[in-house]
Amino acid sequence: MRLRDPKEFRELVPATKRYIYLNHAAISPTPLPSLFEAYRYLYEISNEGSIAANREEADELFQIRKNIGNLINADPEEISLVPNTSYGINIVAHGLDIKQGENIVTDSLEFPAVVYPFLKLSKKGVKINLVKTNPYTFEEDILTNIDKNTRLVAISHVSFNSGLRVDVKKIVREAKEFGALVLLDIIQSAGAIRINVRELDIDFAAAGGYKWLMSPQGSGFLYVKKGLIEDPPFYGWKTTTEYLKFDPTNFNLEKGPRRFEIGTIDIAANLALSKSCEIISNNMDLIENSVLSLSQYAIKLSKEYNLEVITPENKRAGIVVIKLNKAREVVQQLANDNIIVSPRGEGIRISTHFYNTEDEIQKTIEKIAKLANYSN
Ligand SMILES: Cc1ncc(COP(=O)(O)O)c(C=O)c1O
Repeated sequence: MRLRDPKEFRELVPATKRYIYLNHAAISPTPLPSLFEAYRYLYEISNEGSIAANREEADELFQIRKNIGNLINADPEEISLVPNTSYGINIVAHGLDIKQGENIVTDSLEFPAVVYPFLKLSKKGVKINLVKTNPYTFEEDILTNIDKNTRLVAISHVSFNSGLRVDVKKIVREAKEFGALVLLDIIQSAGAIRINVRELDIDFAAAGGYKWLMSPQGSGFLYVKKGLIEDPPFYGWKTTTEYLKFDPTNFNLEKGPRRFEIGTIDIAANLALSKSCEIISNNMDLIENSVLSLSQYAIKLSKEYNLEVITPENKRAGIVVIKLNKAREVVQQLANDNIIVSPRGEGIRISTHFYNTEDEIQKTIEKIAKLANYSN
């Protein structure tokens, strides 16, 4: 599907009929082509049971891996399907065999999914360096904390509570000098802005599909660069090469991306994700340009209304955070008017996808400004 105009896509998102929906950094409405892909599969299962499942999995889910891989310029062999971002991060945390005395660098701006999985490693003497930072000196703060004992730097591409888009290359350069690996949580960037894992030179990336990729909860993927974590942290019935022989007396470690998929996965959700990735990849320039221009517009308008913006303007993606007291109350009042945003960080988070309109942003910010005057 080649889009000439975001409006064409908007027609495929039923939520737009009822809401001003600016909450893609939380959960996105599923667009009809992705929904139909999930529904198509579930309907086939309803009619044909295992016959439909076997047909869908005959290619070892290669087409799904390919569509996800295309989105981030990874090989299908580097894409494993995981139920959420947290699961993917845990695979990296426990698959790397990080030793006592080595450290992991992460930071205070992260969503807990990027931090908590590593805390378990601290029990065996791995140091978790939770760098205290802010959206304005982020890269410098991380860089000064990487040292010769750092095995992994774990950060988000786009910060969920400030909207900062991190200069990943800068961090990877320093990490490589010290021989450290880099894990990027891309759930707040994938689908909104271009991602090229080769160009960024990262080692791991994880994302659930339900935010900017507009897919059901339960879809998600982990990118592991070829040659890394060849022996996964968990084994399941699908971790062996000839898993369809169901032979408990014979185990040969699988080399492909299935090695991280220990058992049955949510095929319907991941088919929807695959469809979303196909649509987004085919329209990436249009989508990125529109996301960046709408977030720019949201920042410009906020300033005109004398609202303080936390998000660094020249390092943004699709998230804009406006500083506000009593954000929860304001968000509730907006919801009463069918305007959907979230309270996050120091205020209100507006997250516009490419098919939103300037008019929607205008109405939202006008209302926030009005409510802010009552609540502050
Ligand atoms: C940066 C980031 N990582 C992870 C998650 C969610 O993790 P999971 O997909 O495991 O539910 C969120 C959700 O808001 C997030 O903002």
